[in-house]
This record gives sequence, C-alpha cells and structure tokens, in this order.
Amino acid sequence: MGNPDDVQGLDLRFDRAHGARIYDYILGGKDNYPVDRKAGDASIEVWPALRVHMQANRAFMHRVGRFLAAERGIRQFLDIGTGIPTQPNLHEIVQEVAPDAHIVYVDNDPIVLAHARALMTSTPEGRTAYISADMREPEAILGAKELRETLDMSRPVGLMLIGMLHFIEDDDEAFEVVRRVVDVLPSGSFFAATIATDEFAPEPLAKLREQYYAHGETLTWRTKDQAHQFFEGFELEEPGLVQMHKWRPDSVDIGEIDDADICMYGAVGRKT
Ligand SMILES: C[S@@+](CC[C@H](N)C(=O)[O-])C[C@H]1O[C@@H](n2cnc3c(N)ncnc32)[C@H](O)[C@@H]1O
Repeated sequence: MGNPDDVQGLDLRFDRAHGARIYDYILGGKDNYPVDRKAGDASIEVWPALRVHMQANRAFMHRVGRFLAAERGIRQFLDIGTGIPTQPNLHEIVQEVAPDAHIVYVDNDPIVLAHARALMTSTPEGRTAYISADMREPEAILGAKELRETLDMSRPVGLMLIGMLHFIEDDDEAFEVVRRVVDVLPSGSFFAATIATDEFAPEPLAKLREQYYAHGETLTWRTKDQAHQFFEGFELEEPGLVQMHKWRPDSVDIGEIDDADICMYGAVGRKT
C-alpha cells in the first residue's frame, strides 16, 4: 500500500476484492491486498489475456489523451472512473503536450481518493483536481466546486470514460448518465470511451464475468450497436468505433495483439 496516513477514516473494504485494486494488481501496481490478488489471479486463470487487455485499455487512454491535446487542441479534460493512479496518468500525458492543460479526475472508490495526491502533481502552468463522486449521480460531478474552479465549461472539454462503463449494469441507466454529462459540454468537445464486449471471445468471457460476480464486481457486456449508441450526437474520429487496440495504434504501443484478447471497443467523438 502507498501511504497509510492517506487512508485514515475511509472505509476501504479490505475484506473484499475491489475492481480498482484488481486492475492495479494486474497492471503491476502496489496498491492492492491479498483478497484483490486472489481475485485477479482467479480472473487471469479463466481468461489469460486479461493483463494484455488491461494494458491495451491503458494504452488507448494514453493515445487518446495525446491525440486530443496534440491534434485537436484540447486543454481541459474530465476523466471519470480514473482508477488508482498509475503512471503516466492522464495529466502527465496531456501536460507533456500542453503544460497549461487542466484535468479533473473523478472516481467513486475510496481507495482512489486515498491516493488522489498522486493525481495532484500538475505542472505550475496547468491544474488538476479530484472529485470523489459516483458517475450514476452526474449532478454531483457537474455541480462540484472543484469542477467549476478547474474547467471552463463554456470551452471544449475532453470527456474520458475509460474502462468504467461496464460497472453500470443497467443499459438505460448507462446511456442516461452519459447523456446527462455530455449534454452540458459545449460543441467542439470530445468524448472518448472504452466499452466492454464479449463479441470476440464469448466462452472465456462468460467465465470471466462469473468470476467478477463471484467477487462482487459487475462486468456488463455490450454489443457494437450499443457501444455506438453512447456516441449519439458525436462525429467519430477515424477509424470510428473499433476494438480499442486498433484505434490509431502507435509505436509506443504494446506490440502485436490477438483480437480475441481484447474485450473492449474504443472510440473518440467530437460533439457537433
Ligand atoms: C478499470 S478502472 C479504469 C481506470 C482508468 N480509467 C483506466 O482506464 O486505466 C475503473 C474505475 O472506474 C471506477 N468506477 C466504477 N464505477 C464508477 C462510478 N459509478 N462512478 C465513478 N467511478 C466509477 C472504479 O472505481 C475504477 O477506479
């Protein structure tokens, strides 16, 4: 664990495995507990590609951050479902391109809050903020003073929902909460997401889902059509909605990847 002083007063639920900590463990982080490692190992046993898949998710986030900052001039980001800090974090990626960029992070997991200090390492010219809130209550995010103080909501924002929509099980609720956030973004804003699907490896992924449920996490699969639905009102950047490792792969990516090892679509859209 990082700094134990950080976690005082928070209910970190050490007795059960936790999605953010399992993700941290599988990505090689140190902010996880035996219960998380046990669940992570059990998940890898049923789907050995899980580590490659998670690395590809993280790599997608890096490429999108760089693309939006360097090629679309985005200087403000709202990253919901941030996860336990894992370097490089989004602000480190975009501030390398644009040191004056502002980034607001949001997560509902107390363990992420406990480590939020690692997200507050902005450049002097830029700014970062952290909001502890649940995406299922978008008004808590949109009404937060940290958001208003850090982002100018009259200017384009890059909204990132990376590796988190599968935690919202109900399809209508997932579409609705995304809609409520994108509705307040000015045109010219961008929306990037990865959306879990079982379309490329149905059998092992059925077992993975069982495994997630067994340790109390949800893992909601969506079809390509459903994934597209999240982007209604957005013009998709090339190459459109594709398996996330196929979205503008670059030389710093993690190498050759088998399609059956990736269970998420990824896309980036511009609000018209
Ligand atoms: C798999 S991690 C992804 C982290 C990071 N976005 C990435 O792609 O590397 C998913 C994160 O979403 C957060 N999350 C899940 N449901 C959420 C919700 N309803 N509101 C806010 N955050 C949520 C979890 O706590 C976790 O930290």
